[in-house]
Amino acid sequence: MAVKTVLVTGGAGYIGSHTVLQLLLGGYKVVVVDNLDNSSETAIKRVKELAGKSKSNISFYKLDLRDRAALEKVFSSKKFDAVIHFAGLKAVGESVHKPLVYYDNNLIGTIILFEVMAAHGCKKLVFSSSATVYGWPKEVPCTEEFPLSAANPYGRTKLIIEEICRDIYNAESEWKIILLRYFNPVGAHPSGSIGEDPRGIPNNLMPFVQQVAVGRLPTLKVFGTDYKTRDGTGIRDYIHVVDLADGHIAALNKLDDPNIGCEVYNLGTGKGTSVLEMVKAFEQASEKKIPLVMVGRRPGDAEIVYASTGKAAKELNWKAKYGIDEMCRDQWNWASKNPYGYGSAENSSKKR
Ligand code: NAD
Ligand code: WQD
Repeated sequence: MAVKTVLVTGGAGYIGSHTVLQLLLGGYKVVVVDNLDNSSETAIKRVKELAGKSKSNISFYKLDLRDRAALEKVFSSKKFDAVIHFAGLKAVGESVHKPLVYYDNNLIGTIILFEVMAAHGCKKLVFSSSATVYGWPKEVPCTEEFPLSAANPYGRTKLIIEEICRDIYNAESEWKIILLRYFNPVGAHPSGSIGEDPRGIPNNLMPFVQQVAVGRLPTLKVFGTDYKTRDGTGIRDYIHVVDLADGHIAALNKLDDPNIGCEVYNLGTGKGTSVLEMVKAFEQASEKKIPLVMVGRRPGDAEIVYASTGKAAKELNWKAKYGIDEMCRDQWNWASKNPYGYGSAENSSKKR
């Protein structure tokens, strides 16, 4: 089979860098475009090191998707078999305060990408959607047929992009599009060389726990202890980032199915874990005590969210392999080797 070339937008980021590595190891050629707004070129360097003899199969362009001319140039220089589109801003709280920044970056960037793809005859796409499109699910597990809603501008950008994808497929049936709804990605590559490195104070649970463990933050606030759950704390479906990355390879394979149009798949484990269970697993993996402060619920949070995994298992032939112990082990391995992520103590709080 001919070697496939994939354009990965946002490939220097957390999920993108892990996916790029799995693509290289799987024999793909990869072109990454990223404006490095929330990432570091060091991630690309480390991916190359981990890719061994496949390291020559990656090229990187620092560009913003909204720079149509720069994107055009990349599409003119190579023919892409498919695009995996990760690039976007993802901080829920920030999106509430700066909605226009989110609509501009996520929507305009995506529209320009789709226009340039169409102009160059590349109509195969895998898009990073999110479990956030289920809003506050009335029941669990969340199946792909659940009603969709958005609780904040970030979530609305995901919902709008999903709708754009359905519309462009309805208008032109040669598009083949897979929308992947990720649940809660955590962990890092087992080498400890690449992992999540958020700018500023982390919003998500595990990056926060990690920074408490390495001494960068004093305590973890547990948001809500009165949920109707086993221990009163919120329940989520945490998924190892390497499993998630492999889900993208499965999705790329599925794009070769002549019957695929615009399809959506959950990527989760199907298992729910509470905040306190996750903290305990991380304490065991790291042998560090995480000091906790119990506080009220975080506005907007759902009580219990976890995935129905049947559709991805049946149609993508993909299933998550790792459990929370492996997620915490690998997250700690990354954190202990890189307490300041890809940077240093001096530049760790750099803000957008
Ligand atoms: P990330 O911030 O680590 O990666 C996103 C990358 O996109 C960054 O490297 C950033 O610099 C780049 N980028 C942003 N805007 C850009 C633009 N206009 N042009 C070029 N590059 C741009 O985030 P991540 O966790 O790896 O998430 C990847 C995707 O998955 C995002 O679309 C996110 O919304 C989605 N997602 C993430 C999660 C999660 O919890 N991490 C859950 C569900 C969905
Ligand atoms: C997990 C649990 C918190 C931080 C978010 C986005 C969603 C998706 C994934 C992109 C909840 C609790 C958290 C803390 C805590 N991202 N928590 N103390 O809220 O499920 O989803 O990330 O698409 O769109 O909304 O993930 O990691 O923020 O929270 O107690 O300091 O941890 O209340 O129960 P969430 P999270």
